[in-house]
Amino acid sequence: MVAVADRLRRAQHVCCLIGAGISAESGIPTFRGPDGFWAGRSAFDLATPEAFARDPETVWRFCLWRRSQLVTKRPNAGHHALVAIERLVPQFTLVTQNVDGLHRAAGSANILELHGNLMVDRCTACALETQAATDGGFETIPICPECRAMMRPGVVWFGEMLSLDAIQKADAAARSCQAMLVVGTSSVVHPAAGLAEMARLHGAFTVEINPEETPLSRIMNMCIRMPAGEALPAIVEAMNSSDRG
Ligand code: OAD
Repeated sequence: MVAVADRLRRAQHVCCLIGAGISAESGIPTFRGPDGFWAGRSAFDLATPEAFARDPETVWRFCLWRRSQLVTKRPNAGHHALVAIERLVPQFTLVTQNVDGLHRAAGSANILELHGNLMVDRCTACALETQAATDGGFETIPICPECRAMMRPGVVWFGEMLSLDAIQKADAAARSCQAMLVVGTSSVVHPAAGLAEMARLHGAFTVEINPEETPLSRIMNMCIRMPAGEALPAIVEAMNSSDRG
């Protein structure tokens, strides 16, 4: 941890690329693997523009079910440690693939939500975004308060483009950071996974925090095979110690 803390301390800009693994310790299942969200479900029927065009009600019901799961979930030690790191370095960019909003709840400030936010509704016509109601379901599919078109969940589905603004900012952060932490992601979904390769190509010190190996492990400078909720607080502790020392 001391070596990582030292690199973070010396960096002008730290970028963190985050995946579902960080929220596993808050009780939110990851996507892949036997207990993952997609086990026994078809992403094609629940999380694609085609599915929504065919059967918006089913896609909305799936979204409402995921929202109902989130209501009781709280940020964990890993999320809080990222807030602490942000406060200890001159420039910090948190690029997350997670749609659960737990980084914001923890207090992270500079967040890029690459895959959107599950608690946001977005108009299919005018793109107006509204905060989703947290009181559970609805009788009929929500309608845009401005233009009366159908609303959709504010997440990125398979086969859709990411927000150009978010991916451009994430790309710029990956190119300019001196250190990148890649936390809790299987690194198989692009373009997010490509950001770690980009950071490495541009000379950043890259660290993977994940109990499991990933396709990107071999290009990392260092791999910490621990849960995020243990590794990240230990890094913060080491950063604070080096400060005192
Ligand atoms: P995955 O489910 O693909 O991967 C989760 C990763 O977290 C795995 O590599 C686990 O080993 C790791 N992990 C599990 N517990 C952990 C812990 N306590 N600490 C650290 N790591 C842990 O999730 P993502 O990589 O985030 O996209 O998936 C990427 C995208 O695919 C998601 O954003 C979602 C999904 O389909 C969309 O919905 C568009």
